[in-house]
Amino acid sequence: MPHQLETERLILRPFTPDDIPAAYPLVELYYKLGRAYWGQGYAFEAAVALRHFAFEDMRLHRIVTIADAANGRSLALMRRLGMTLEPAPPSWAGEMMGTVVNPKMRD
Ligand SMILES: CC(C)(COP(=O)(O)OP(=O)(O)OC[C@H]1O[C@@H](n2cnc3c(N)ncnc32)[C@H](O)[C@@H]1OP(=O)(O)O)[C@@H](O)C(=O)NCCC(=O)NCCS
Repeated sequence: MPHQLETERLILRPFTPDDIPAAYPLVELYYKLGRAYWGQGYAFEAAVALRHFAFEDMRLHRIVTIADAANGRSLALMRRLGMTLEPAPPSWAGEMMGTVVNPKMRD
């Protein structure tokens, strides 16, 4: 249990993974790699490790990624990560959103 300051009117304590709202526990995965390192699977390997951390350690329900619809490399990476692609919400018009759900939390 992290340190906690508690008074009659206030409880203060550091954020932990348990603080993520249970109703919508997702995070956005963002990646950017130096151009010289594209095409070698580095982004994929790092993203797989982060997906594992998000699902196994943080017990998140889903991960999303947003990318320009013309960003073929990013869209290909989303697909490699097992993401389902769909047009992003209107506030991100012109972008695509990839989503992958934690397989242990599908039910
Ligand atoms: C998006 C971005 C991270 C993708 O990088 P990437 O290197 O294409 O992605 P990956 O790590 O998945 O690598 C895939 C390539 O490596 C190859 N590869 C080699 N060894 C591999 C391995 N062991 N595992 C997977 N892929 C491997 C794949 O065949 C593929 O090659 P291809 O591009 O010729 O088809 C990169 O283009 C980037 O940083 N872009 C600028 C920032 C950006 O647009 N970010 C997204 C904004 S939302």
